[in-house]
This record gives sequence, C-alpha cells and structure tokens, in this order.
Amino acid sequence: MQLIKPFIHIILFLLSATIVELTSSKIWFQGFVKNVASKFHKNWRQHFFSEENPFIKNCFKLTNNGTHYNSSDFIYPMILGVGSCLVHRSLKVAHACYNSSIAYVDLLNMDYDELPGDWSYENRATA
Ligand SMILES: *[C@@H]1O[C@H](CO)[C@@H](O)[C@H](O)[C@H]1NC(C)=O
Ligand SMILES: *[C@@H]1O[C@H](CO)[C@@H](O)[C@H](O)[C@H]1NC(C)=O
Ligand SMILES: *[C@@H]1O[C@H](CO)[C@@H](O)[C@H](O)[C@H]1NC(C)=O
Repeated sequence: MQLIKPFIHIILFLLSATIVELTSSKIWFQGFVKNVASKFHKNWRQHFFSEENPFIKNCFKLTNNGTHYNSSDFIYPMILGVGSCLVHRSLKVAHACYNSSIAYVDLLNMDYDELPGDWSYENRATA
C-alpha cells in the first residue's frame, strides 16, 4: 500500500492536468516533470529510511559527474560499501582513495536538486 499511494497521487494529478486547459508551455511541463521526479526521489528516501533498512544511513553510488568538487574538500577517510574512499566534508560525495576521478554520491542523503545529472535523469525519465 505504501508504494501504491504515490502512484495514485500522480495518476490523479495527470488526469486533472488533462482536464484543465493545457497551455502547452514547455516551462510548465519541465516544472511538472521536476516536481514528479523530486517526489519520486523523496518517496524513495522515506521508504528506504522508514521500512526497509533501519540500519543503513547512506547509499553511495558511482556517478560520472563528480569530478567538479574541490579535491581538497575530501577530508574523511572511510571504508564504504564501494571500497576505501575519501569522503567530502558535506558527507554526500566520496571518491576512491586510489583514483579521485572515480566519484560516488550518496543518493540517500541528497535532495533531488543535489543529484548529479546521471542520477536525476533516472527519476526524470520515470516522471
Ligand atoms: C579548494 O579549496 C581550497 C581550501 O578550501 C582552496 O584554497 C582552493 O582555492 C579551492 N580550489 C578551488 C578550485 O576552488
Ligand atoms: C581513474 O579512473 C578514471 C575513470 O574511471 C580512468 O579513466 C583513469 O584511467 C583512472 N586512473 C588511474 C590512474 O587508474
Ligand atoms: C555535472 O554537474 C555540474 C554541477 O552540478 C553541472 O553544472 C553539469 O551540468 C553536470 N554535467 C552533466 C553532464 O550532468
């Protein structure tokens, strides 16, 4: 039931959107997609924290767009699920100790707006 609820919201939203007069504005549509996408991400985070994995506090995943961070801000050495890393002072980004261009982002602790392009794309495409 927990998982079905957001879908019903989205379907209702889509239905009402077809009823109101569509201005076919590209900006409106992009805003809509972003709203739905960030809602998906938020739901996923809530679901993850509340039910499935009460002991897991982060979820680092490889990104192809993590190299624009200032490398002197990676200050915490840590062993993560992905291997031994240096973690950014924000605690939301890490890179491999042996190769700083292999970067990871913590999907679980990032808002939708903070996600790198390759990870927000997935939510956007779903939306
Ligand atoms: C990176 O951070 C260091 C220390 O905070 C700073 O001195 C340096 O100018 C920064 N480099 C860039 C490219 O922002
Ligand atoms: C570091 O990783 C990047 C991206 O995977 C790769 O292109 C590069 O060759 C690696 N560098 C070293 C020294 O292994
Ligand atoms: C990578 O991230 C930077 C900063 O968030 C952004 O400006 C840039 O467009 C991104 N590039 C890609 C290919 O997603």
